[in-house]
Amino acid sequence: MNYRLTVNGRAAEVDVPGGTPLSDVLRDHLHLRGTKVSCGTGRCGSCTVRLGDRAVASCLLPVALAEAEPVTTVEGLSAPDGPLHPVQEAMVSCHGVQCGACTPGMVMTLSTFLDTTADPDAGQVREALTGNLCRCTGYHTIVDAALTAAAAAPTPREDRL
Ligand code: FES
Ligand code: FES
Repeated sequence: MNYRLTVNGRAAEVDVPGGTPLSDVLRDHLHLRGTKVSCGTGRCGSCTVRLGDRAVASCLLPVALAEAEPVTTVEGLSAPDGPLHPVQEAMVSCHGVQCGACTPGMVMTLSTFLDTTADPDAGQVREALTGNLCRCTGYHTIVDAALTAAAAAPTPREDRL
């Protein structure tokens, strides 16, 4: 069956069964492999993307339910030759970048969270990250990055793309 998506501001059409996870569509059909799949069961957050204005686990979302709202993946947070998103900048400067499996999902969760929470405290950031698991390193520098990004001058999303 054909599904029409909007991914990172571009129209995309895929011919897959309606129950195909959005993460598979992104990675295998649209070649957007910044979205990672670790558990595949909605428990780790590595597959997090933005659907409309909320962060979702794309491994749990059937593609048939992703047509109505725009999808943003980590590749769409900033233009290829443009400045990084403030969360990405802060993840670098605060040494919050960890492995390639968990980091994209953390970035997507935090960028979505900060769009609706202008001045969070550390507890709110940790709560926002409850769906994003790191099995090995810890969250201290990631929380620092979120607070640093929140303190940076907000940049309207349309100006970053
Ligand atoms: S891969 Fe989707 S939550 Fe783990
Ligand atoms: S799971 Fe990515 S650094 Fe631990």
